[in-house]
Amino acid sequence: MTSRLWGARFTSEPSDAMANLSASVHFDWVLAPFDIAQSKAHARVLNGAGLLDASELHLMHFGLDQLREQVLNGFFVATPEDEDVHTALERGLIEIIGGAVGGKLRAGRSRNDQVATDLRMYLRNSARVVASELVEVQNALLAQASAHVDHAAPGFTHLQHAQPVSFGHELAKHIHAFSRDVERFIDWDKRAAKSPMGSGALAGSSLDLDPVAVASDLGFDGVVENSIDGVSDRDFVAEFLFITALVGVHLSRLGEEICLWSSREFGWATLDDAWSTGSSIMPQKKNPDVAELARGKSGRLIGHVTAMLTVLKGLPFAYNRDLQEDKESSIDAIETLLLVLPAMAGTVSTLKFDVDKMLKSAPEGFALATDIAEWVVKQGVPFREAHEIAGACVRAAEAQGTDLDELSDQQFAEIHPSLTPAVREVLTVQGSLDARSTINGTAPASVRVQLANAQVRLGQLHDWAKVTPHDV
Ligand code: ARG
Repeated sequence: MTSRLWGARFTSEPSDAMANLSASVHFDWVLAPFDIAQSKAHARVLNGAGLLDASELHLMHFGLDQLREQVLNGFFVATPEDEDVHTALERGLIEIIGGAVGGKLRAGRSRNDQVATDLRMYLRNSARVVASELVEVQNALLAQASAHVDHAAPGFTHLQHAQPVSFGHELAKHIHAFSRDVERFIDWDKRAAKSPMGSGALAGSSLDLDPVAVASDLGFDGVVENSIDGVSDRDFVAEFLFITALVGVHLSRLGEEICLWSSREFGWATLDDAWSTGSSIMPQKKNPDVAELARGKSGRLIGHVTAMLTVLKGLPFAYNRDLQEDKESSIDAIETLLLVLPAMAGTVSTLKFDVDKMLKSAPEGFALATDIAEWVVKQGVPFREAHEIAGACVRAAEAQGTDLDELSDQQFAEIHPSLTPAVREVLTVQGSLDARSTINGTAPASVRVQLANAQVRLGQLHDWAKVTPHDV
């Protein structure tokens, strides 16, 4: 007997090519545990509506629990004839408990509300798994940042030396980007936490079901308010994919820095052997493949959000089969991040930094020119003029091929009378760093407070990630 959930009105079997195109069971199988949990909740409301008596409910739950075991231990698998996960699981249930009771489960629900509910459950759980791995990357960054608060490095704009910064400050910027990503998941989750069950195919159900009870059984905060929207809405997928794309973009920027820092030209960072690869022809090579793959995989993550939005654009309501395209992209986004994030955490935590080299190059490129300008401003000179005075110092130092602090007292005085020898107090890297003591600035004392705050925030994000809305 076919497991197909439809077909009575057809006189011939589907063609092979049509069945191949239609099948989703080879990828939507990840939804199986969620589908079974949903079926248990649905059986309860069928019982509440008088459509399953107590012994039937008991048998149904027994069958679904057995099926869950068999799915998890691989005893029950989908066959190519099963169109999708929902079809396969109905077949499995009927194989265990028979059609007299197993055949009653489908009353009052459609695969349209079923799949929308399963996908919300799967993504809500996955958001937490991804967030936990993200927090691990942040912890690795935090440990490195804390170890390098007092180490100065060149800071860049336009990839040119700009001003010296604390290297701990430099590393910690990535923590903040990733914290916003986890916060985006938390905010997204509020909208995703609405159950589409009860929407049926599109119009709701005439059976006396209780969608609110199903929703709370499955860890949702409530029910979608419009059944037509409930089965057609994939905003929650598009938003989820935007967040994963942005995580990818943030990983790519971190990856790019690791590539630069570990290059011979920079020579700031050495990759641990366990987190780098060699070349098949050049024996000396040690390549930053984790950082490069993180950078490269952002491409597919961006592709997924673009694909989802394109599927949704102009799509008529309510359910259309186009919507089946929502799953492969989300599954791949999750699997991609679960590959990249642990590797990135390992790479970051084992990087060794050459702090002497960073310190030596911190003032290079006249990176203390802004310090001269701001010091002159403190002497009462307008900044417009101070900027020109500092520029004249750069010109003079450049002309004689020295750094700014090698200009003589006389040269400073000739450039501008406000430039007394006391200016030398800001012409050191340490003085420059310490002076930037705003709440968000690079002074080591400020950075220490920033890191302590970041750590508290990481604890909160970790706490969110470890509570699953519904265990399956
Ligand atoms: N496999 C389908 C999907 O993922 C399930 C819904 C099918 N609904 C239908 N009316 N054919 O979208």
